[in-house]
Amino acid sequence: MRVIGLMSGTSYDAIEAAAADLTLEGDTLVLRPLGALSLPYPEELRGCIEAVLPPAATTAEAVCRLDTGIGQAFAEAAVRADGELCSGTADLVVSHGQTVHHWVEDGAVRGTLQLGQPAWIAEATGLPVVSDLRSRDVAAGGQGAPLVSIVDTLLLRARPGVSAALNLGGIANVTVVAPGADPVAFDTGPANALIDAAVRHFTQGARDYDADGRGAARGRVRPGLLARLLDEPYYRRPAPKTTGKELFHLAYLKDALAAQPVPEPDDVLATLTRLTAVTVADACRAHDVTELVVSGGGARNPVLMRMLGEELADVRLLPSDSLGLPSTAKEALAFAVLGFLTVHGLPATVPSCTGARHPSLLGSITPGRTPLRLPEPAAVPPRRLRISDATRRP
Ligand SMILES: Nc1ncnc2c1ncn2[C@@H]1O[C@H](COP(=O)(O)OP(=O)(O)O)[C@@H](O)[C@H]1O
Ligand SMILES: [Mg+2]
Repeated sequence: MRVIGLMSGTSYDAIEAAAADLTLEGDTLVLRPLGALSLPYPEELRGCIEAVLPPAATTAEAVCRLDTGIGQAFAEAAVRADGELCSGTADLVVSHGQTVHHWVEDGAVRGTLQLGQPAWIAEATGLPVVSDLRSRDVAAGGQGAPLVSIVDTLLLRARPGVSAALNLGGIANVTVVAPGADPVAFDTGPANALIDAAVRHFTQGARDYDADGRGAARGRVRPGLLARLLDEPYYRRPAPKTTGKELFHLAYLKDALAAQPVPEPDDVLATLTRLTAVTVADACRAHDVTELVVSGGGARNPVLMRMLGEELADVRLLPSDSLGLPSTAKEALAFAVLGFLTVHGLPATVPSCTGARHPSLLGSITPGRTPLRLPEPAAVPPRRLRISDATRRP
């Protein structure tokens, strides 16, 4: 089955679209990547997303407009992916949509809201769409995240030692796969969320991120500010746990900065970059990780990667590209897998990772141009994921 995955994370910078051929061979899921596209959000839409995010208040009208605007942008990405990556032969679109609220209370997730009305995608492509993938896990008592954990688990299970996958988006999440133990997955805290917020603040919105970590490279880590930031109770909570920009936003950073003499902007960036490295490293050490497979936009920040290497001197760091999954397309490919599992009648969650009571069949399905015809439910769930045609292997 030829599947397009569409993803935009908490950084709401761009829609990542990736296509893959997926086949079940016994208990092996085979994924052949067909390429990926990154479509930056139109500036106006970005502004609208920013305007509804916490701690801002919003209206039903703004949410409705955004649901339409994001749905149309995702539809455009799907059309392009079908044309440019699949020569018009895609069978299914899987859309994560854009998270606008992840409602956490006392460590429990009560709800999660992704916008991007799938009807626009079905209308534009004529293809069936799987969307709203997180809610079912929340209804089953889970965090609704990190959903990529099933893909990480299938991919890393056969690797030696304690292997972990790390995605550095707005938020950082890890999946730890140790031999003989249930996998665990959780958000470690911010990856780029606070760095991006600081850059936008210090440049009055002229820039969105610390390109190539240049600001952080010029700055010095301020131990007082770092200690203040590390005092965040979230880091000490046990897994499973998830977080979002409901916690790690500009007002949160301003609060921390108010507690001391305000450092130079570059020092703030250096300190925030170190914060990400330290919190990820602490999480990895707590789980005796020996190998860390890194993906997401943060993998392109050389200062963050250097700091991570310093904090985890005994851990082997490698990009997900070296396992055949391009690091910026990994999450989009993972969502393609989730939707593929859904239409094959297979649960797509790992309860030990999301904290749910049981594995769940995920998502809502919107029919395409023709009546919905689902494949026969698969006889056995996959035990491993093989990436075919991977160009490089470690
Ligand atoms: N060259 C780069 N240098 C520094 N940071 C980068 C670079 N490229 C991407 N990033 C960071 O990655 C973020 C986007 O990563 P992404 O994986 O798309 O996150 P999300 O899933 O939250 O959208 C950007 O906001 C930026 O902070
Ligand atoms: Mg992104």
